[in-house]
Amino acid sequence: MELPFAESWRIKMVEPIRKSTRAEREQWIREAHYNVFQLPAEQVYIDCLTDSGTGAMSDRQWGAMMTGDESYAGARSFFRMRGTIERLTGLSHVIPTHQGRAAENVLFSALVREGDIIPGNSHFDTTKGHIESRRAFAVDCTIDEARDTQLEHPFKGCVDPDKLEKVLAVNADKVPFIIVTITNNTAGGQPVSMRNLREVRALADKYGKRVIFDSARFAENAYFIKTREEGYADKSIKEIVREMFDLADGMTMSAKKDAIVNMGGFIATRHADWFEAAKAYCIPFEGYLTYGGMNGRDMEALAVGLDENTEFDNLRTRIHQVEYLAKRLDEFGIPYQRPAGGHAIFIDASKVLTNVPKEEFPAQALTVELYKEAGVRGCEIGYILADRDPVTRENRFGGLDLLRLAIARRTYTDNHMDVIAVALKNVFDRREEIRHGYRITWEAELMRHFTVRLEPVAD
Ligand code: F0G
Repeated sequence: MELPFAESWRIKMVEPIRKSTRAEREQWIREAHYNVFQLPAEQVYIDCLTDSGTGAMSDRQWGAMMTGDESYAGARSFFRMRGTIERLTGLSHVIPTHQGRAAENVLFSALVREGDIIPGNSHFDTTKGHIESRRAFAVDCTIDEARDTQLEHPFKGCVDPDKLEKVLAVNADKVPFIIVTITNNTAGGQPVSMRNLREVRALADKYGKRVIFDSARFAENAYFIKTREEGYADKSIKEIVREMFDLADGMTMSAKKDAIVNMGGFIATRHADWFEAAKAYCIPFEGYLTYGGMNGRDMEALAVGLDENTEFDNLRTRIHQVEYLAKRLDEFGIPYQRPAGGHAIFIDASKVLTNVPKEEFPAQALTVELYKEAGVRGCEIGYILADRDPVTRENRFGGLDLLRLAIARRTYTDNHMDVIAVALKNVFDRREEIRHGYRITWEAELMRHFTVRLEPVAD
C-alpha cells in the first residue's frame, strides 16, 4: 500500500489560540463596524486574513537570526542575503526594503512618470496604487479565462499576449516596463506558465521593453510549473526558478510570502542603470543600501527562508494543504475560483449569497457570516475593495466579488482546514435565508476596505 502524504516538517513550538462563543463574536463584529480588519486578533480563532508575514519560521531561520550582523553599513547579513538572491535568480544588484510595497515605491520612483502606461496581469493593489499615485496607468492584460471562476485552467494567472501587444503597439513610447505578478494574487493565487513568461519576454524584446516580476509568490509559481506544465516534471524547483528569472530584467519582492519572514522585501535587477536610479530613493525612503528597512537578523532569516521554500517538499506540503481545503469545499458544493491556487481559496460570493443585492456587498456579508459562525477571519476581495470610480464616485461592480481565505505557511493543520470548511458549509446551508448585506456608514477615499464602517441592512 502506498504511504499517505504527510507534512515535510514536525512542530517544535506552538502558539495557543482560543475559541469564542457566537454571542461574543456577534458583539465583537458589531463593535468592529462589521469590518474584520478592525477586530483585535485575539477575537479570531483561525486567521485567514492574509498569508503575508503570518508563516511559521523554521528552526534554521530562527537559528540564523542569532547570527545577524546589525552594522549600519556593510553588514555581513546583507551580503549573505544578496548572495542567496543572486544564486537563485541570477539578479546581482539587490536593494533591501522593509516590505514589498516599499520595493515598489523605491523602484517606481525611479522608473514611473506621469502619463506612463504599465501593462501586466492583475496588478496587486499596492502595485496599482504606486502606479496611479504617480498619475500613470496600470493596464490589466490578464487572460479572460480568469474571470470565470468555474472554468478549470492550469495557468489562470497568465498575461494575454494579444492584449499586451495591443498596448505595446499603440503606446510603446509610454511603457517604462511590463510587470508580471507570479503567482497572480488578484486572480486567485493563479500561476503563470513558463510558456507565457516566454511569450511576454518575446513581446518585450520586440518592442525593446524590460520586464519586472512582482515575485511575492514566485516559488509557488515554480511549483505549479513543475506539476502542471509539460516538460518540467523532472526539473528541480531551483532550476525552474532560475529559468523563470532568466526571462526578467528585475523583480520586486514581498519576502513576507515566499521567503516566509514576518517582515522584509527587496528589489533585484540585472541592470546597473536601474540599480543606480533606485539607490537614490532607497536611502531617503528605506535606509542605507545594506539594510533598507530590515534588521541584519531579518536578512539572515530571509536568506534561509528563500532557500528552504525553493525546495519541492516544503512547497508540496504547502500547496497540498490549500488543495485539501478545496477538496473539502468540493464535497459541500461550495463554489470557488477553480482550480485551487497557491496561497488561498477565493469563494465566489455572488454564487453563494444569490439573494443579497450587489449594492449590499455579498462577499462582505459572507465574510461576516463566516466570522460569526466559527471565528474564522477571511477577507473580502470584492466590491468594497474595488473602491469607487475616481471620476463618477460610483461603486465599481464590474469585477468578481470574492471571499479570500488565505492560508498562512506552516501555521495551521489540516484539522483547522476542516473547521473552516464545515463552518462555510453551515453558512452555505442557510444561504437562501440570507437576504441582506451591509451598507457603508463611513469610508476613506482610497483603499477603503481597511477602515470602512458598515451596518447591516434590515428588511
Ligand atoms: N505584490 C503582491 C502580489 C502581493 O500580494 C503583495 C501583498 C504585495 C505585492 C505587497 O507586499 O504587503 O509586503 O508590502 N499582499 C498581501 C496580501 C498584503 O494579503 O495579499 P507587502
